[in-house]
Amino acid sequence: MERLVAALRAARSVFVLTGSGISAESGLPTFRGINGLWRTHRVEELASPEGFARDPVLVWTWYNERKSAHVRAEPNAGHDALARLERIVDDFTLATQNVDSLHLRAGSSNVLELHGNLREARCTRCGARRAFEATGLPLDEIDHECGGKFRPDIVWFGEPLPADVWRAAQTGAARADVILVVGTSAVVYPAAALATHYNERAFVAEVNPEPTAISDRIDCVLRGTAVELLPRLLDDL
Ligand code: APR
Repeated sequence: MERLVAALRAARSVFVLTGSGISAESGLPTFRGINGLWRTHRVEELASPEGFARDPVLVWTWYNERKSAHVRAEPNAGHDALARLERIVDDFTLATQNVDSLHLRAGSSNVLELHGNLREARCTRCGARRAFEATGLPLDEIDHECGGKFRPDIVWFGEPLPADVWRAAQTGAARADVILVVGTSAVVYPAAALATHYNERAFVAEVNPEPTAISDRIDCVLRGTAVELLPRLLDDL
C-alpha cells in the first residue's frame, strides 16, 4: 500500500480500469466468479448478435432483470473512493468494463464505458436511440418502425468497442504515471490490454482478492476487496 500511495502522490496522471468486481459489494454478480453470470447463463445466447437475432425476447428479459438490479444497487465505498481520487488528481481517466452506471452515480465524471451501458437502446437497422425505464424495455416495444429491432447499447462478444471511447482509453493509459486495476480478471480483450500494453513507464497496481491474468506482470498487487482497500488508499494519500 505504501508503494502505491507514494506512486499516487507523485503522479500527475492516473488511469483506472475497473471490472465487475468493484460492483460485487453493491450486490451485483461478477461474470466468472462464484455464481458469476457466465456460470449461470449461456453467454452465446445472451451477449452476442447471433443470440439476439435468434431470441430478442430472451435477451431483453435478461437485460431488463440486470437493469432492475443495477437501479436497486447503490454505489459502494470503492466507487466513492475512485470519485474522490478523481477530485485530487490533475489528469484522471476511469475506464470501466461495467454497464451498471455505478461509477457515474458515485460522482465520477471522466468515465469511459468500454462495453456500453444499459441506459439506452439502439435500433439494429437505423441506429435510432431510445431511453428506457428502470424496469427495462417493454418486450412489446422491441420492434422499431423502420423494421429493425431495439437492442441494448452494449458491446457484445465479437463486436468492436466504440471507437472514440477506445481511443480515449488508450491515450489515457499511455500518458498515465499510475495505472490502477480494480475488480477485473483481466481476461477479456481489448479492455485488459489497457493495463499492460500501452505504457511501459507507469506504475501498475491491482486491487483484487484473487490473482488475475496480469498479477505476475505488474508492479504492485493488493489482495483484498475494493470496499476494504480503496477507502484506505485514499485516507493514506
Ligand atoms: N473487490 C475487488 N475485486 C473483486 C471483488 C471485490 N469485492 N469481488 C470479486 N472481485 C474480482 C474477482 O476476483 C475477479 O478477478 O473481480 C474479478 C471479476 O472478474 P470477471 O468475473 O471475469 O469480470 P470482468 O473482469 O469484469 O469481466 C470482463 O467480460 O463478460 C465480459 O463484458 C463482460 O465486462 C465484462 C468482461
